[in-house]
Amino acid sequence: MIMTARHFLDLKDFSFEQLRSILDFAHELKRRLKAGERPRLLEDKVLAMIFERQSTRTRVSFDVGMRQLGGQTLMLTGQEMQLAREETIEDTARVMSRYVDAIMIRILSHDDLLDLAGASTIPVINGLTRRSHPCQVMADIQTFEEHRGPLEGKKVAWIGDSNNVLASWVHATALFGNKLAIACPREYWPDQGLLSDIAEVGDAVSLGTDPHAAIADADLVITDTWVSMGDTDEGERRRILKPYQVNPRLFSQAATDALFMHCLPAHRGDEVTDEVIDGPQSVVFDEAENRLHIQKAILCWAFGIENL
Ligand code: CP
Ligand code: NVA
Repeated sequence: MIMTARHFLDLKDFSFEQLRSILDFAHELKRRLKAGERPRLLEDKVLAMIFERQSTRTRVSFDVGMRQLGGQTLMLTGQEMQLAREETIEDTARVMSRYVDAIMIRILSHDDLLDLAGASTIPVINGLTRRSHPCQVMADIQTFEEHRGPLEGKKVAWIGDSNNVLASWVHATALFGNKLAIACPREYWPDQGLLSDIAEVGDAVSLGTDPHAAIADADLVITDTWVSMGDTDEGERRRILKPYQVNPRLFSQAATDALFMHCLPAHRGDEVTDEVIDGPQSVVFDEAENRLHIQKAILCWAFGIENL
């Protein structure tokens, strides 16, 4: 597929240097905003945001980020577009490319995302698919760096089912020099595509079923909802994933200064207890805030602006 624009679809499409540069820019944009500066780098640019599923953070942070950069947004849902009446995703891309300057989309089918990007002459940003959530993991890395410095050499533990956020963490691990220990029940094991991504990363990723082994001495502990958008077997999931709850007993096995992250929304009492998510080592709201800063840097990159 020949891509004619700067799309942000998956972390594995990037080199370390490219992602480093986006992260450095996000740190700088955050510093500037806190100092009261709002460089209008995307003056008059229009971002179309298409949501096939619910969102709080992605929707609000992209919208506010564009406004802070001097741009504008259009909020659309798949249901109210002709997409719902079988207009193809490629034709949708061709039409949108004539009106707006970039598209951010949340759509469960990753193949549809790729088809949209393939037919689009303007940048397309992945706002979550069933397969990956790259903006989230960029925000996670920004947050880790703020609190603990470089990720290189650190141990990240993923506790729970295999899902889109985990996939983007696997892709990040291939580039950032950290280790990733995954504890996941056999029933919700990575699919073939993610297993081959894991195999490509090599020894930096370990995959097992034991949450105690994965969390041991971890510098960063991450979990996510047990029921992702599009999952249908909620009751079964809550039963099988119960031993993977991040509670004080499990979290105490991580390094003493370990951070806790969760992309949110959290289901308190399921994948994480209040003591951990509200505890002193939790950085979940910094993580949510950083969606704003990193996505501003991603938007600027998509428009060819890489520093101030
Ligand atoms: N973490 C995240 O993407 O949140 P939303 O579903 O609220 O956008
Ligand atoms: N894994 C979750 C992330 C939500 C932001 C989901 O796909 O629903």
